[in-house]
Amino acid sequence: MSANAGSLCLSRLDYVIVLAAGEGTRMKSTTPKVLHSIAGASLLNHVLNAVEALAPAEVRVVVGAGRVEVETHLAKISPAAIPVFQERRGGTGHAVQLALAGAQAKGTVLIVAGDTPLLSSETLTQLIKAHNDGGYAATVLTAELPDPTGYGRIIRAENGDLIRIVEERDASDVEREIEEINSGVYVFDLAKLAKAITQLSDANAQGELYLTQAIEILRGAGERVVPILTPDFIEILGINDRIQLAECAAIMRDQINDTFMRSGVSMIDPTTTWIDTSVKIAGDAIIYPGTAIAGKSIVGPGAVVGPRTTLIDCEVGAGASVIESYCMGAVIGQGAKVGPFTFLRPDTVLGADTRAGAFVEMKNVTVGEGSKVPHLSYVGDATIGAGTNVGAATIFVNYDGVNKHHTTIGDHARIGSDTMLVAPISIGDGAYTAAGSVITEDVPAGAIGVGRAKQRNVLGWVLRKRSGTKSADAAQSSAEKGKPTS
Ligand code: UD1
Ligand code: CA
Repeated sequence: MSANAGSLCLSRLDYVIVLAAGEGTRMKSTTPKVLHSIAGASLLNHVLNAVEALAPAEVRVVVGAGRVEVETHLAKISPAAIPVFQERRGGTGHAVQLALAGAQAKGTVLIVAGDTPLLSSETLTQLIKAHNDGGYAATVLTAELPDPTGYGRIIRAENGDLIRIVEERDASDVEREIEEINSGVYVFDLAKLAKAITQLSDANAQGELYLTQAIEILRGAGERVVPILTPDFIEILGINDRIQLAECAAIMRDQINDTFMRSGVSMIDPTTTWIDTSVKIAGDAIIYPGTAIAGKSIVGPGAVVGPRTTLIDCEVGAGASVIESYCMGAVIGQGAKVGPFTFLRPDTVLGADTRAGAFVEMKNVTVGEGSKVPHLSYVGDATIGAGTNVGAATIFVNYDGVNKHHTTIGDHARIGSDTMLVAPISIGDGAYTAAGSVITEDVPAGAIGVGRAKQRNVLGWVLRKRSGTKSADAAQSSAEKGKPTS
């Protein structure tokens, strides 16, 4: 993954141009193509992560389709990058002309597309190094594809240099047989590129200015242009439709999971385990199938997550377990047990060795060490002390229809099953509530709050009011056997 590449910055890089103005028509989406996500980050974000690891002096992103959305996103993920607006699609050469306007006249420039999320900073570093070491005018990253359809083909000279790149639509039958293709990743000498792109023509099948034409212009001027074949064509895969989006997502999922497994994380079924690049997982954690861990989540050592669990921006402490649950913005303390079938919402903080059990929903709650909410409860807007037990089917009645109110429960309290805690309310240390209570007044420390009608039994009622039913028959025979009929 690209994050650790600060140390890879061996070669000077002055500019990066990211081409991202295309419509992405085949995505059939109202979202601009480069804003679609894999592994929790936009395609553009993945590309920028890879190039920013090279510490370029300046990054310019050519935007067009969905300009406002792309620029807004760019400002968020990469505030230093400069958007360049391409109003009409004039081709890759036109986009680079716009991006170079006002750029300083010399240096090295890297050009990439915004829709190739698998490009690694390692590969880019090697490309730039080869370019700078060789002193070439241009260096092009190429790949051999099993099916080169749609890509520009690489025409090499006998010494291996690049003569020109011919687009599929402009290629002869013989040229179309060539399997080596243009990845769309280039390093140029900036001054030479700036001069060459003033000479581009649109006399081609698409009537656009092709950046690739700069190659033959440079070579015609006696410059050297060299293709560098990448051993791993996976890296240059671009995304044009949702099928390719899913394919790249699966590749990145495998890369991420492999890295975690190598670092000591167990995954029972990596193919159904989806983890964002931003997630951290410690060694000896075990991830069960059907699990997604997203955003800023952190999973501690020896924790167990899944099966079928989603964690978004959650912290899971050492040795905790989260099973068959959906959790967002929650902190789960060490040794805590969550699930199965638990819904933790933002600002839930479960202390060490706590428990949030089956069919429990929590929101904006702090639960002290060792406290338990084992079954069928809603706990919202509350502070619960240590060692407290909240009985099955307790509801924290936090909403009066207009405002939300807080509930405070002390240490070692015992909330009886089916208690309604009508907030704002406070239950003291060591206090109890009787099962089935509707608690509307504070319960002091050590007291039991009883808030329910006193039971009365109406003897013989079933025989009088439900005669002829099986219940009445059962009551009758019970009476005949001498059992009490109440
Ligand atoms: C381009 C290359 C081709 C290469 C392929 C690799 C040219 C002429 N051809 O073809 O040799 O094999 O990439 O994927 O460059 N873009 C703009 N503005 C434009 C046109 C394109 O910003 O006016 C951006 C697109 O958003 C995209 C990138 O440039 O990110 C490449 O454009 P695209 O239309 O996909 O080029 P290809 O025809 O695939
Ligand atoms: Ca393309």
